Amino acid sequence: MIGGLFRSSTRDIPDVSQVPKHIAVIMDGNGRWARKRMLPRVAGHARGVEALRATVRGCVDRGVEYLTVFAFSSENWRRPQDEVSFLMQLFLKSLQKEIRRMHDNDMRFRVIGDLSKFDPRLVDMIREAETLTAGNGGLNFTVAANYGGRWDILDAMSRLMAREPGRLERFTEDEIASELSMSFAPEPDLFIRTGGEKRISNFLLWQLAYTELYFTDVLWPDFDDGALGQAIGSYQGRERRFGRTSEQLKADAGE
Ligand code: IPE
Ligand code: IPE
Ligand code: MG
Repeated sequence: MIGGLFRSSTRDIPDVSQVPKHIAVIMDGNGRWARKRMLPRVAGHARGVEALRATVRGCVDRGVEYLTVFAFSSENWRRPQDEVSFLMQLFLKSLQKEIRRMHDNDMRFRVIGDLSKFDPRLVDMIREAETLTAGNGGLNFTVAANYGGRWDILDAMSRLMAREPGRLERFTEDEIASELSMSFAPEPDLFIRTGGEKRISNFLLWQLAYTELYFTDVLWPDFDDGALGQAIGSYQGRERRFGRTSEQLKADAGE
């Protein structure tokens, strides 16, 4: 950390470790998983919670410090009303069920996204879970709900501009980064998207600048510890150059 902020990949060379410190996941493919089994789409979402539980465990076991998952995008409101309400109910029920366990496992739970459109009961429960786990030092587990990368950047910029209405100088990367909703975490080392699509879908746009991207056809409900191990294995085979040459990296490593 520098001056209370994590290193920005475009301004400094971040520390790179064997095990990714921060993994960000787009949990995609629930609907297709269910359809393949002639089940309603929502059955895939229910099974997706199991896969998430396994992924959390896998991250804890491997010493990953931050796990951030995309649960509901700002564009997912466009889905059929009954699917949206099912997802909200599932979020509420899963949270109710898991709060205690997360706390007992020393996890720190957070939600990022615009919660103003959510049922107040759900918002209360989220705040309660965040407060309960605020002092924990284990895995930082963050759920992105009604989150959009553009919303996040606009929100940060608006706050900065409101604070200094007459300001003429350019804002700095650090100023913007410190207002984003993931300001408490280093930028993701590894991004995983299941379900076969190769896109970012408005997830952490700013923070993914130098993240290693991993796409798998595995549908989210089938994503298990082995699949997580494969993703991390792929990450470990990458050379993270951050703009430098391979020769420079080898020289720095004293080879
Ligand atoms: C991801 O699975 C879960 C959410 C977006 C909430 P999908 O529901 O997008 O599954 P597919 O892509 O239709 O298979
Ligand atoms: C992205 O999945 C959002 C979540 C996983 C929550 P989608 O399935 O909604 O993404 P698109 O619309 O196909 O890009
Ligand atoms: Mg999808």
